[in-house]
Amino acid sequence: MNVMTTSKLEVVPLSKHIGAELRGLDLSQPLSEADVAAINKAWLDHIVILFRGQRLSQEDQLRLTAYFGEVGALGRPPKYFPPGFNKLLPKIMMISNIRENGEPIGALPDGEMMFHHDMIHHDLPHNGTMLYSLEIPTYGGDTLFASGYAAYDTFDPALKAKLEGKKARHHYNYGSTQKGDGKGTEAFAQSCHPVFRTHDQSGRKSTYVNRLMTTGIEGMSDQEAQPLLDALFDHTEKPEFIYRHQWKVGDVLLWDNRCSTHARDDFPADQRRLMLRTTVAGTVIPT
Ligand code: SIN
Repeated sequence: MNVMTTSKLEVVPLSKHIGAELRGLDLSQPLSEADVAAINKAWLDHIVILFRGQRLSQEDQLRLTAYFGEVGALGRPPKYFPPGFNKLLPKIMMISNIRENGEPIGALPDGEMMFHHDMIHHDLPHNGTMLYSLEIPTYGGDTLFASGYAAYDTFDPALKAKLEGKKARHHYNYGSTQKGDGKGTEAFAQSCHPVFRTHDQSGRKSTYVNRLMTTGIEGMSDQEAQPLLDALFDHTEKPEFIYRHQWKVGDVLLWDNRCSTHARDDFPADQRRLMLRTTVAGTVIPT
């Protein structure tokens, strides 16, 4: 069902539990207060929001991000666009596999990534992440989003009872076995957060552990914790909780890290993929 929320904005759900396409807005123009309120509501309701066919300057992307909260810090040193582009503004980061002198110009360059929450290894992870797509491969490189609310609501009650009130440990890892990446990344930082996180705005609970970065549960032996975590990872990643996003150039997508995980499909290493990333800073993790 399509729901009109303002005179211009149309909200079209993309799957049963997560994702909505927001139509009718030109994001290169400042938005009215009513539209800002409507897109924030859509973000809270749908976890992932998508705007297609946008042409944004870096200033536009920063303005858009700021409609959802304070723009987050990079967590990585600033980089520069490849030849033909201008310098990146502060707080904008490239996600890209494009290489110059053999080195990727962006972060998270290559291929598949397991389900994860951005920055969960920090004490105060970013509330949201926005990607604006500039170049995409001819196939692959889809991003998958899983609703942590739907996973929490349907998780086996007996297993849920064992994990309720517990905290999990998280590592910066990104699948690498090497410490750090030599580029200033705050690598192998660790944190501890509730296994089930209460969203500070919606008040709903969601799963808050992920296969890529969660390493254990406080106060439990690994022998006891790992089967519980595996059950929770498997449950959270069930296809019925997932929206798969197939990118087009000009897509702007914002996801809520408080109540969702995301993963990325493999894509051809010899095809260019370039996204500009901004973040919404973290606010609070209710205990
Ligand atoms: C990410 O996991 O933050 C990047 C997702 C993507 O490149 O599609």
